[in-house]
Amino acid sequence: MSHHFIRFSNVYYSYPGGHEALRGVSFLITHGERVALLGRNGAGKSTLMLLTDEFLTASAGEVNIGDIPITKKTLPLVRQSVGLVFQNPDDQLFMPTVEEDVAFGPLNMQLPEMEVEQRIDAALKAVNAIDLRTRSPMQLSGGQKRRVAIATVLSMEPNILVLDEPTSNLDFGAHRDLITLLANFMHTQLIATHDLDMVRELCPRSIVLHEGKILADGPTSVLLEDCEVRLALGLMDEPPLMQQSTYLINLILTLTYWN
Ligand SMILES: Nc1ncnc2c1ncn2[C@@H]1O[C@H](COP(=O)(O)OP(=O)(O)OP(=O)(O)O)[C@@H](O)[C@H]1O
Ligand SMILES: [Mg+2]
Repeated sequence: MSHHFIRFSNVYYSYPGGHEALRGVSFLITHGERVALLGRNGAGKSTLMLLTDEFLTASAGEVNIGDIPITKKTLPLVRQSVGLVFQNPDDQLFMPTVEEDVAFGPLNMQLPEMEVEQRIDAALKAVNAIDLRTRSPMQLSGGQKRRVAIATVLSMEPNILVLDEPTSNLDFGAHRDLITLLANFMHTQLIATHDLDMVRELCPRSIVLHEGKILADGPTSVLLEDCEVRLALGLMDEPPLMQQSTYLINLILTLTYWN
């Protein structure tokens, strides 16, 4: 795989019950970019992230990781390349101990035992979780689970990191450590988050999802000042002018109805 990019071309996704979570999403994230994925609850961020690693399959359109489309045949290669950290760490951790969870990816890659050991050490050190090595993931706190979930992905040394709300539950120190870790990760990153301080610090570019569609895609500093984006993210109330015009429209409709 020569380039570590993510390309979505007119991607749609409907859940089995029929809810259309993504409606014609297109973007390209190129090698080394660090991009924030923003949007209100239910906007479609997690759905989009699950499509990058083929945990979900697009209902229509195409997802490409590097220069290969995601298919059953290319899936193992794609999963080695894309490190996806789920929104809920309980979906990521399923082994009896932390070290077994962190070793799971490298063992699947059939790496030699010594290399697996080195990777476990490095990944747990990176998230400051060496002391949790022999603990049961099920018995960890929310923030500890989050750190271990990130380690299970780092141990695979991915070319692309896809992180779904990575800072939730982290204490101040762990939050700062994670920002430093991501700042030093030189490959492609897509980060879904409501943590705007982190976005401002880490992500020069943001993509804003609204009701399954891309509302905006551009420089973070510009987008976060844009009225339409701020409204869509719930960062501001409707401007008074809009409230007045909605009031007037409602008034006219009511009067027309009663006449
Ligand atoms: N398993 C599912 N079955 C049916 N609908 C789902 C399922 N998971 C999510 N949805 C719906 O799809 C839409 C997008 O959900 P998604 O989880 O992608 O949102 P999100 O942007 O990640 O939100 P949040 O900020 O709360 O994590 C929502 O309307 C949600 O209710
Ligand atoms: Mg989500």
